[in-house]
Amino acid sequence: MQKLVIHGGHRLQGEISISGAKNAALPLLCASLLTADTLTLQNIPHLRDVTTMRALLEQTGVRILANEPGTAELSAASITNPTASYDMVKTMRAAILVLGPLLARTGQAYISLPGGCAIGMRPVDQHIKGLQAMGAEISIEQGYIRAQASRLTGTRIVMDLVTVTGTENLMMAATLASGTTILENAAREPEVTDLADCLIRMGAKIEGAGSDIIVIHGVDRLHGCSHTVMPDRIETGTFLTAAAACGGDLTLTRTHADTLDVVLGKLTEAGASIETGESWIRLRMQQRPQPVSLRTAPYPAFPTDMQAQFMAMNCIADGTAVITETIFENRFMHVQELKRLNADIQVEGNTAIVRGIPRLDGASVMATDLRASACLIIAGLVAQGETIVDRIYHLDRGYEHIERKLTQAGAQITRTN
Ligand code: UD1
Repeated sequence: MQKLVIHGGHRLQGEISISGAKNAALPLLCASLLTADTLTLQNIPHLRDVTTMRALLEQTGVRILANEPGTAELSAASITNPTASYDMVKTMRAAILVLGPLLARTGQAYISLPGGCAIGMRPVDQHIKGLQAMGAEISIEQGYIRAQASRLTGTRIVMDLVTVTGTENLMMAATLASGTTILENAAREPEVTDLADCLIRMGAKIEGAGSDIIVIHGVDRLHGCSHTVMPDRIETGTFLTAAAACGGDLTLTRTHADTLDVVLGKLTEAGASIETGESWIRLRMQQRPQPVSLRTAPYPAFPTDMQAQFMAMNCIADGTAVITETIFENRFMHVQELKRLNADIQVEGNTAIVRGIPRLDGASVMATDLRASACLIIAGLVAQGETIVDRIYHLDRGYEHIERKLTQAGAQITRTN
């Protein structure tokens, strides 16, 4: 099993180029199922989740015509097997994103239920309820969702809670429904908007993406198009937080500051000085960070996917921070590992109280999920001495060439077997 070995205590300096967003690329790949024409996607990150999604799409009958680095040309001219097996879904929950497109295009889908995962239960009831409201007949058979509909019908759907992939699944399904679908309490994440932009290019009629009410007027067919995946705002935020924790002068290129307002505000609160341009963000940090309290919530509030990284920074802050996680019920697994580096953290329910100490000390730690891995890397970069991060396969699901990018910025980090 691969590990990362980090020698901490170095400032981050220089430039890092940001990859395409994992959470935008995954639904965009699934959008290929909605048309018999070719969909060309650019700026696709090279990640394990993307490879898994491609394999899943190929199993359904999608042909991947070009597979150059960063580009995918997908043709779903014929869908022969509208199925997502347990083996696929268990490694990547986002596999549920094929449910809406397969049902809308072929009238049927047979998708494994995702079940729980390390960070929480993560049910898919909202996806199912929404499709049922659009006329789908859905039954659960031996751990699989069996969905059927001759043609989905547009309707008004008020979602019980804000769900990102739930909104994406229903929006994709509604593009080919008969009549108008109104999605209320929809997710406003920029990845939803990126997907809507691509669907509109494919001929879909969508209004309001980026707000909490999305209106989709169904059309008979969609056509192919070419679309560039948005930059990864979580990868951007992770490197910025690393630089704020380690100190330094780091510029991130090929990214957008406007999807990161709250995160940039919190980094400024920590004492960083931030400048932004059309496609770059520069962060300078001279001193020990100030503590930053935060509460995760759906976009545009502070993202749950940045909570663990901010916890690492708060471990060495000059004071105490309170972190509240409101999206996932078990997203503090990194706390036990941070404590191995001497961090002072106390968890009470969904709140963590982090008392900053002047320095962390290197140790062996274990990554438990994707963003926890990023948190442990930041802690390792800050800590004195050597930190070994084990189980980094989680990291490869969501960060492209992370050790190469950090090395470029002056970090001492290597991958070993
Ligand atoms: C997406 C992101 C993930 C991010 C999360 C929250 C992708 C591929 N993944 O995950 O990185 O951490 O948004 O920003 O985009 N819920 C239900 N019923 C449902 C659906 C969700 O109860 O049918 C609950 C979940 O358990 C969770 C909350 O709603 O507590 C939000 O989950 P959701 O937004 O659906 O997360 P994902 O879309 O899976």
